[in-house]
Amino acid sequence: MEFSPPEITAGAIIAKLNTVASAVDRMPLAGAPLLSAMDYDKTEMAKTYRTGRSLEPEVLQQWMDVVAAHVEGKDVQAILDVGCGTGRFSEALAEEFNANVVGIDPSRTMLDEAQRHCTHSRVFYARGSAEFIPLKTSSVDVVFISMAFHHFTDPPAVAEECRRVLRPEGRVCLRTGSWEKIPAYPYVPYFPGTAALIEKRLPSIRFQREVFEAASFDVLFEGEVWQQIAPDFPTYADKIALRADSILVSLEDKEFDAGMAMLRAEKAPGPIVEPIDFLVFGKHT
Ligand SMILES: C[S@@+](CC[C@H](N)C(=O)[O-])C[C@H]1O[C@@H](n2cnc3c(N)ncnc32)[C@H](O)[C@@H]1O
Repeated sequence: MEFSPPEITAGAIIAKLNTVASAVDRMPLAGAPLLSAMDYDKTEMAKTYRTGRSLEPEVLQQWMDVVAAHVEGKDVQAILDVGCGTGRFSEALAEEFNANVVGIDPSRTMLDEAQRHCTHSRVFYARGSAEFIPLKTSSVDVVFISMAFHHFTDPPAVAEECRRVLRPEGRVCLRTGSWEKIPAYPYVPYFPGTAALIEKRLPSIRFQREVFEAASFDVLFEGEVWQQIAPDFPTYADKIALRADSILVSLEDKEFDAGMAMLRAEKAPGPIVEPIDFLVFGKHT
């Protein structure tokens, strides 16, 4: 049976989310725009994302440990996964914290994939944008945002929304990219045109931090986490070939093919690792 992504306007879904994050009072949702600087539904990304951006279980656990270290001692009952995409982190978050997880994303096709593979009874997906979160005020303990900030159309509005839905002791965990990391992103040398695209599209880490500070958040942590994305170059090339990345998908085919040829010819040993910016915010008291 074909899965139909939940509509945030549907009464049944609203009722379900209510039980999850104790939660939905935003009936204006019916007319809420689904904002995105990049419409994933206009790409083939949903078909390739799960494989092209997969993380080995130990890398996923590495991320769970990172998040856990920053919410230690807190009672985590509900987590919001903003821009959850295919749900790469949603189930792991539910499992790690024994919490309900609501994943929201404006993309039907990404949510469709998330739902199709979802096996966790405490994970719920709904269409929604970070700029207008379909949850009640003070309803979640953690807002997790992974690789979505650069797609937000109105970052200050997103930070305000995070503040609104977060409980007083809650945490925003921002897993993100930034143009400052261009020299360390492993595919850039093979696809030189990506440097200019990243520079244009990925906001600086300072900007990302200041957006949350302006919404009365304190920075509790700012750093980078190095994650392994492939054990060796052939495996890395297979993943990159899927083009499951909003920068790679924007390259001309000719340039992409040239880069792939260089990557396939790479003889350097693995593993291939990359830095991911990670910030944690708490509400300013
Ligand atoms: C690179 S994917 C990241 C998916 C997932 N968080 C992960 O790390 O695997 C970016 C996701 O952000 C979503 N997105 C784009 N604009 C958004 C917005 N305004 N609010 C929430 N999510 C958005 C896209 O639809 C896409 O699914």
